[in-house]
Amino acid sequence: MMRSRSVGRFGACLLLVAGGCRESVTSNPSETLLEPYALALPAHFPPFPHPVPSQAKADLGRLLFHDFRLSVDDARSCGICHEGKKGYTDGFVVAVGALGDAHTRNTLSLLNLAWRGPLTWVDPSLEDPVEQMQVPLFGRHPVEMGTDPSTLPDKLAGIDVYPPAFAAAWPDDPSPITMTHVEDALAAYELLIVAGNTPYDRYLLGEHEAMSADQKAGMELFYSERTGCGGCHGGLFFDRPATADGTPTSDRPEYLNTGLYNIDGAGGLPPNETGLHALTGDQEDMGRFRVPSLRGVAETGPWGHDGSYGALADIVDDYARGGRLLVGGPWPGDGRDSPWKDPRITGFSLSATEHAQLVAFLEALTDVEANARPFLQTPFCAEELDSGHLDCIPVEP
Ligand code: HEC
Ligand code: HEC
Repeated sequence: MMRSRSVGRFGACLLLVAGGCRESVTSNPSETLLEPYALALPAHFPPFPHPVPSQAKADLGRLLFHDFRLSVDDARSCGICHEGKKGYTDGFVVAVGALGDAHTRNTLSLLNLAWRGPLTWVDPSLEDPVEQMQVPLFGRHPVEMGTDPSTLPDKLAGIDVYPPAFAAAWPDDPSPITMTHVEDALAAYELLIVAGNTPYDRYLLGEHEAMSADQKAGMELFYSERTGCGGCHGGLFFDRPATADGTPTSDRPEYLNTGLYNIDGAGGLPPNETGLHALTGDQEDMGRFRVPSLRGVAETGPWGHDGSYGALADIVDDYARGGRLLVGGPWPGDGRDSPWKDPRITGFSLSATEHAQLVAFLEALTDVEANARPFLQTPFCAEELDSGHLDCIPVEP
């Protein structure tokens, strides 16, 4: 396995000459660490829309993102809810916070976050990653990490790996371990989660055999008038309004109701999660959620804003039906007849072969190479010892 620069540096130091690493980095920050992070953008991606951080800041962000000790019970990190191998989600129906609180929504993927625009399932005005992270760090309803901003800097100062890492990122600051810097480094790291080497991308770049025949047939269906998928999941990130062939018509995402619920025949949603409606109070916003990116979608299950889908095939079935029918259970109703459903969801028919091909196309959107990239994995040993990856930082008690 490739050695990551950060882990090689800090990890090897800690393992071989515990304590010695800190001094050498603080007193003589390496030039390499101050250089911009070597961002390898896929050739067909748009330019990176944020400043590229230094290697040192990116490395620090990686540590913080994966460190359980940022949370109130030393058991939740950003990375435990946004895990690389699960397409930067957590595999849960809805997220579960440090104190066992359940979130009302399914964890969103962070893949290619840099190009997302407005963040979260519901808030069109929330664009700043630092503003967004106030919720998982400090939110009370639910508690996600329960981080205490008044004690975290001191706590980090007492953990061997952090003083040299903060000093390398802010070499001119005599006391760089601050909450502002924690947030700055976290944002820098999450924006570097770039993944554009899927079979679909390789196909786009001219490698015609990168997708199987079924995946290619599924792609034709995805971008057809019949299914209309590409009209909502358009553009390179599958999250912009577009013409049927996927050519974007706007750089803003849409917030839509796809007919998942129709409680009492009035288009109602489960009252704890009504989407954009909860922000605006407007009835017509009932059940509207941001169109999610489909990159990595085969790994981000369960799916839907509330994690109520266990299989991609079921999602395709319900689009074909023109809305979801729920019989029995707490929220019965026929989403096909919801007054708030987007008019483009009208249903269509697919043969069993075509159905499988459409799902096969969704499976061509996974970047296996990114999943193995050390920079996108936790640098701490706790999880990695099992996988035989020993070039990692032991977590101190
Ligand atoms: C308990 C699980 C959990 C933890 C811990 C957590 N997140 Fe999240 N994250 C979520 C959920 C759930 C959503 C969807 C939130 C919503 O729609 O309001 C989300 C959404 C996001 C988004 C928006 C993605 C998008 O496509 O709009 C970003 C960015 C993000 N999280 C970053 C972080 C960072 C940084 C941390 C650590 C400080 C973190 N998260 C910790 C569960 C978690
Ligand atoms: C009218 C716009 C629209 C059309 C057409 C559309 N989608 Fe969606 N799609 C959405 C929205 C909005 C969501 C989020 C719905 C929710 O969870 O409430 C979504 C969610 C999904 C999800 C779940 C993603 C996740 O991470 O949870 C998948 C998979 C998906 N769509 C695939 C497709 C496919 C395949 C088609 C064509 C058959 C299609 N979509 C057509 C708007 C659309």
